[in-house]
Amino acid sequence: MATIGILTGGGDCAGLNAVIAGIVKAGLPLGHTFIGFDKGWEGVLDPVMYRPLTAESVRGISHIGGTILHTTNKGRFGAKVGAGGVARIPDEILDMAARNLQSLGVTALIVLGGDGTLTGALQLSERAGIQLVGVPKTIDNDLMSTDQTFGFSTAVQVAVEAMDKIHTTATSHQRTILVECMGRHAGWIALFAGLAGNANAILLPEFPFALEDLVAHLKHRQDDGLPSIVCVAEGITVPGISRSGENLGASEHSLAGVAHQLQHAIEQYAPETFELRTVVLGHTQRGGSPNAEDRILAKRYGVAALEAVHAGESGVMVSLRDSNLTLVKIADAVSGLKLVTATTPELQTSKQMGIFIN
Ligand code: F6P
Repeated sequence: MATIGILTGGGDCAGLNAVIAGIVKAGLPLGHTFIGFDKGWEGVLDPVMYRPLTAESVRGISHIGGTILHTTNKGRFGAKVGAGGVARIPDEILDMAARNLQSLGVTALIVLGGDGTLTGALQLSERAGIQLVGVPKTIDNDLMSTDQTFGFSTAVQVAVEAMDKIHTTATSHQRTILVECMGRHAGWIALFAGLAGNANAILLPEFPFALEDLVAHLKHRQDDGLPSIVCVAEGITVPGISRSGENLGASEHSLAGVAHQLQHAIEQYAPETFELRTVVLGHTQRGGSPNAEDRILAKRYGVAALEAVHAGESGVMVSLRDSNLTLVKIADAVSGLKLVTATTPELQTSKQMGIFIN
């Protein structure tokens, strides 16, 4: 029976606690014991921060947002640079982690994270020979090798609920309102939320767009007396502005505020044409309780990760494929990002329904 370490890394999302509960509740009856590391990889490094995870510690946590283990998307274990670049974690950091795990008797790690956290996990497992199983987490849903990450569905739901509210006020005032969703490199949240939330235009980071085309679309609607909702992914590039996030005082991690840039660009291009407003949903999409879909997916992922450790698997990530859970290589999952393409069904549906999509 193993002492299994669990950590949550990168940006948080709804459903992390449900995964933790799934792992521990499925593993205790099999005789495994659990240690939860605090603040992602930082907790594995000096000064090590951890606590035992017992039946008591995971009772009543599944419906609560965030992570009881805390997390960070900064720190000494940074293994990803930008969209796809891999950095080598220094050997002394990997060795420090290996030493600390060994002294606690941890022989297997279950790591809940996105591509950055899992890339670091892979480097540790390769250097220290630790048994490793990953669980795919990111609200952006841009991890390869899985149909869906947990946290995505809740993020979409938050955005849709916001858009439902924004529709009524936009209609009352006949305004054009830009609603910014998260999504640095991939526009999955904006696409799904835009389609479900009846947006009239959706702008994704994956494709460029011409301001005149967007303005023409919005102008047609305005001329017909209609308000518009434009669902904007935070990672878009506004025409004429070299990189979203610049000039906004945006942090290294956050691109939030690009919709304000877009509002400004529309006002410059078509002065006094629209009554524009901008809503940045930001971290509301990451916070709060997981919805039912995410709770179920997270619990399934947690139990499957435990089963994988129990079966002696390593270097693998639990993955959803056509409603079934399977195991894929972490190396494949972090080899690139899963992006929206021209053939994505939800994109095609949106276009066929007359929604402007870049
Ligand atoms: O990668 C997940 C994500 O939520 C992105 O959509 C967003 O750009 C980023 O994290 C925000 O990070 P932070 O928590 O540092 O603001």
